[in-house]
Amino acid sequence: MTPQPRTRTQLPKRTVSIIGTGSYLPERVLTNAELEKMVETSDDWITSRTGIRERRIAAEGEFTSDLAAKAAQSAIENAGITAEEIDLIIIATITPDHFMPSTACIVQTKIGAKRAVCFDISAACSGFLYAVEIAQQFITSHTYNTILVVGADKLSSIVNWKDRNTCVLFGDGAGAAILRHRAHGHGVIATRMGSNGQLAELLQVPGGGCACPITAENAGERLNTIRMEGRETFKHAVTNMVESARQVLDDAGLTPADLACVIPHQANLRIISAVAERLEVPLERIMVNLDRFGNTSAAAVAIALDEANRTGRMKVGDYVLLVVFGGGMTWASSVIQW
Ligand code: ACO
Repeated sequence: MTPQPRTRTQLPKRTVSIIGTGSYLPERVLTNAELEKMVETSDDWITSRTGIRERRIAAEGEFTSDLAAKAAQSAIENAGITAEEIDLIIIATITPDHFMPSTACIVQTKIGAKRAVCFDISAACSGFLYAVEIAQQFITSHTYNTILVVGADKLSSIVNWKDRNTCVLFGDGAGAAILRHRAHGHGVIATRMGSNGQLAELLQVPGGGCACPITAENAGERLNTIRMEGRETFKHAVTNMVESARQVLDDAGLTPADLACVIPHQANLRIISAVAERLEVPLERIMVNLDRFGNTSAAAVAIALDEANRTGRMKVGDYVLLVVFGGGMTWASSVIQW
């Protein structure tokens, strides 16, 4: 009998590995001492409430696509591949260079990934893990082999520098990963994603879209900047990150004691400590770099992953948990065997 060609759904499930990571932070450092001169705040308040000491701010002519392209190039080098090998580019961002074209298309040209299909996704601080899950689905379905995922944001472009409730929290940066099927290797074991649009108003940029365009009349209201109900956001962040982490560990058949490293979204040290305490993971196994970079939205977990990779915090075979939370509201967690 002539063998029938196998459809994609009949093909064997493939292991999806992160084969390289990269990141880029702009040169300009903005310290808490400098913020003291801009709004009524203090280094002591910022450090004790958030753990942030300084953050990076992109130059005026440096855009999200520039940050993303530099992070992508460093991930390509780390993976030991060429840009032409990339089949798909997904950029997670809430600060695209333009509404159209996508930032992914701009990055494609900047890095010379001529063969790649390109699109952006919007899931605020959860964007990088959402994009990793999309990439993993494309690889396991045998649609693409090599995917570049980038979390990149120039939050300084949507911060109200007169609002002390928010301007002390955010920074600019980009983190990237190359995902590929690896026949004999470790990879992404399980991922959980969640969203709750009913909580959208707790963290939003109300203006600039078609529902509320910026006009000459409302230009002074800074509607195209971040508004946040900090205390409520904090509570939902802790609850959903813990719940999501427990679910994904359960899916993976692991317990917190099995984890060599936890890489959380870098929003606030108190959120990270509360999550660590509830999961019963000692703080020394948690990756923290928000003291140097603040909250860089979609980039944060990707930058932390790259730092953990390059500083040898994860050895081959280690179990690593990534867990994120952001506007939408959105959250996600992934267990990866490194
Ligand atoms: N300096 C000095 N005082 C300040 C500042 C500041 N920068 N900001 C706020 N305050 C004051 C407030 O006005 C308030 O004063 P009042 O009591 O007289 O009214 C007081 O400090 C306490 O304010 P709270 O908002 O209750 O402070 P809290 O302890 O909750 O910390 C913070 C605020 C840091 C924003 C915290 O709530 C937080 O981290 N929330 C979550 C942030 C987050 O995770 N975001 C999600 C991801 S972001 C994304 O998706 C893009």
